[in-house]
Amino acid sequence: MASFAKAAFILATALAVGWALSAHAQEYNEYDPSAVTPGSIPNFPFRNCNTTNGAYRLAPVWRPSGSNTYCFKIQVSQDALSCTGACCSADLHKIEFNVSSSCLVAGASVVATVNGVRTRVGAALDKAPAGPVGSAVLRLTQLGLDTTTAQDAEVCLTLKTNRGGQGCTTLEQLCSSPGFPAGTCTAAMFDVACDCCPVSQAGQALPPPPPVIPPVLRPCDVCIAATIVPPANDVRPYRYDSATCAAIQQNIANAMNSLLGGANINVFSPFAPNASQCFDTQIITCGRFNGSDTDALANLTEAVQQQLSAFIGVASGGNVCNPKLEKYTVTVSTINNVADQCLDLSQSASCFLPGVPFPNCT
Ligand SMILES: *[C@@H]1O[C@H](CO)[C@@H](O)[C@H](O)[C@H]1NC(C)=O
Ligand SMILES: *[C@@H]1O[C@H](CO)[C@@H](O)[C@H](O)[C@H]1NC(C)=O
Ligand SMILES: *[C@@H]1O[C@H](CO)[C@@H](O)[C@H](O)[C@H]1NC(C)=O
Ligand SMILES: *[C@@H]1O[C@H](CO)[C@@H](O)[C@H](O)[C@H]1NC(C)=O
Ligand SMILES: *[C@@H]1O[C@H](CO)[C@@H](O)[C@H](O)[C@H]1NC(C)=O
Repeated sequence: MASFAKAAFILATALAVGWALSAHAQEYNEYDPSAVTPGSIPNFPFRNCNTTNGAYRLAPVWRPSGSNTYCFKIQVSQDALSCTGACCSADLHKIEFNVSSSCLVAGASVVATVNGVRTRVGAALDKAPAGPVGSAVLRLTQLGLDTTTAQDAEVCLTLKTNRGGQGCTTLEQLCSSPGFPAGTCTAAMFDVACDCCPVSQAGQALPPPPPVIPPVLRPCDVCIAATIVPPANDVRPYRYDSATCAAIQQNIANAMNSLLGGANINVFSPFAPNASQCFDTQIITCGRFNGSDTDALANLTEAVQQQLSAFIGVASGGNVCNPKLEKYTVTVSTINNVADQCLDLSQSASCFLPGVPFPNCT
């Protein structure tokens, strides 16, 4: 009994192999699922053929052509790197794309054209019988192209859903090319005997590189204004004279230039004394620098902020409690270009000396 079963099995196997061989001999071209062992060829194109030898390949980039249509160019190369022997001159009979089996939806279809003419045989989405479970191909067959007519031929695919709107409409969905960017399609180009099947990829055109925007130059025109505000009852008026103004400007300029250096900011025009910016109750000191680096500008702002009370001291002739400035308010603030508030800071102080009644009456 057991040996009979074994003999029957061997016979059946021998028949199957014989059949498969004869099928191959007459070219297992359009798949006969019974002729191959499912899962026997793990890799696309799921056939025994030479994937590196052949004259036909996809141009590296496909182009979208409206309403779910995508076009590929065929390139013919017969150099030694592309092919050898018969594979170099064989005609292009068939193209197969490695596709996602999720696009195999009843009623969904693909229309293929070559140079605008529909292929004689309709494009077919199919399982790959010899491939692993879940492998699928899109087959364009009986193309009848040769090494002359295939050069730059344009193959367009229009992806159509079924009436229920199910099916794939983009190459991102259709094409399976692990390790490549989404939308990259892998195709094998077959000769009639399916011996040569050079595999190539075509991907989505990269988006144009973003225009190189030159860093916007943000020139900062900034002045430090020191202002003394006399009290309402200005019994002992104090006004800046030109020597005091020049000294205070020099002091503030030195400090500002050093803060700019500390913040690594490129100075276009250093802070400097300017006699025409001296007024009775206000002293202005200006400079111009590069405010393009917002980080550096933030650091400068922080550093200047920390210096404001020192500037108030400078503007007060050493100390806001300078008796000459009794009841005066001293303000140090920044003045910017109207358009650009590069440094927006302000601080005030006053000194009200403790009342010393009749100091001379002791
Ligand atoms: C495929 O063809 C190339 C020549 O282009 C050859 O070197 C290689 O051995 C072939 N591979 C197989 C598996 O036949
Ligand atoms: C072909 O697609 C399958 C999924 O169906 C994938 O596993 C395989 O890596 C793909 N092969 C190539 C060469 O892209
Ligand atoms: C001094 O300030 C005046 C008034 O703002 C300005 O026109 C002039 O260019 C400045 N001089 C210098 C040397 O910066
Ligand atoms: C201004 O600063 C930016 C940012 O640091 C820099 O790219 C640019 O070259 C500077 N421009 C000048 C004229 O210094
Ligand atoms: C700003 O200051 C921080 C902390 O001191 C420093 O790490 C950073 O490099 C500075 N940024 C610039 C642009 O100088």
